[in-house]
Amino acid sequence: MAEVIVVGSRKAAGALVAEAIERLVAVQPDAVLGLATGDTPVPVYRALAERVRAGLDLSAVRGFALDEYVGIPVGHPQSYHSVIDAEVVVPLGLNPAAVHVPDGRSLGIETAGERYEAAILASGGIDLQILGIGTDGHIGFNEPGSSFASLTRVKTLTRQTREDNARFFDSVDEVPVHSITQGLGTILRARRLVLLAFGAAKAHAVAAAVEGPLTASVPASAIQLHPRATVVVDEEAASMLGELEYYRDAFENKPTWDPVIL
Ligand code: GLP
Repeated sequence: MAEVIVVGSRKAAGALVAEAIERLVAVQPDAVLGLATGDTPVPVYRALAERVRAGLDLSAVRGFALDEYVGIPVGHPQSYHSVIDAEVVVPLGLNPAAVHVPDGRSLGIETAGERYEAAILASGGIDLQILGIGTDGHIGFNEPGSSFASLTRVKTLTRQTREDNARFFDSVDEVPVHSITQGLGTILRARRLVLLAFGAAKAHAVAAAVEGPLTASVPASAIQLHPRATVVVDEEAASMLGELEYYRDAFENKPTWDPVIL
């Protein structure tokens, strides 16, 4: 199962994951990161940006965003193209040509998933996939019912997800109905998964993903199939985990030869 690490704050989570990414890049300067959007990964990107300001060089790092909305222009401030550019590419000093986001434009949308999968394969595959989790247990935009074998494709968003994401738009009606997302099968191919979650609103989804039955009804439960998955949560998001004391014990007694996350 996933290793669960409970941290005191979002900032501490960001520092922990940034440190792991720095270690990865030290041995593999052109590492391929899977990039999540939403509020959750922001502390990771901020911590990395601080390290870049202090001299860390990420200019050879490559990236693949998890997902994108379908039907809003690439230049829309809430398109994941724009968000990845503003929160990741620019502050981390990445090469924009080496950071890919699924193509959510309507023209050619039928083949956009296949093209994205081909680009991931051509890169050699994702080394470390950063994930958030939706309140309904989705990862990327793989809504409940998504096949564990799914690859990048168009998905219809649930009403719940559109309501959750309405805060980024003027109203829920402006949140696109469709998205294009890496599939659960795509995510499971990454060499390392790091799922982050903060706040009480995520507690139920986290418990279902980590300890619940493996089911397409909770897409994030797919992480149980991955041999190298880490879940980094604050106390609130961890609050519904049944084996919390065991996770704390396991982390406190982690063998020194076993690095945190990588
Ligand atoms: C969004 C994104 C996911 C993200 C999730 C949680 O819909 N597509 O990649 O992990 O919902 O978002 P947040 O981190 O803002 O809570």
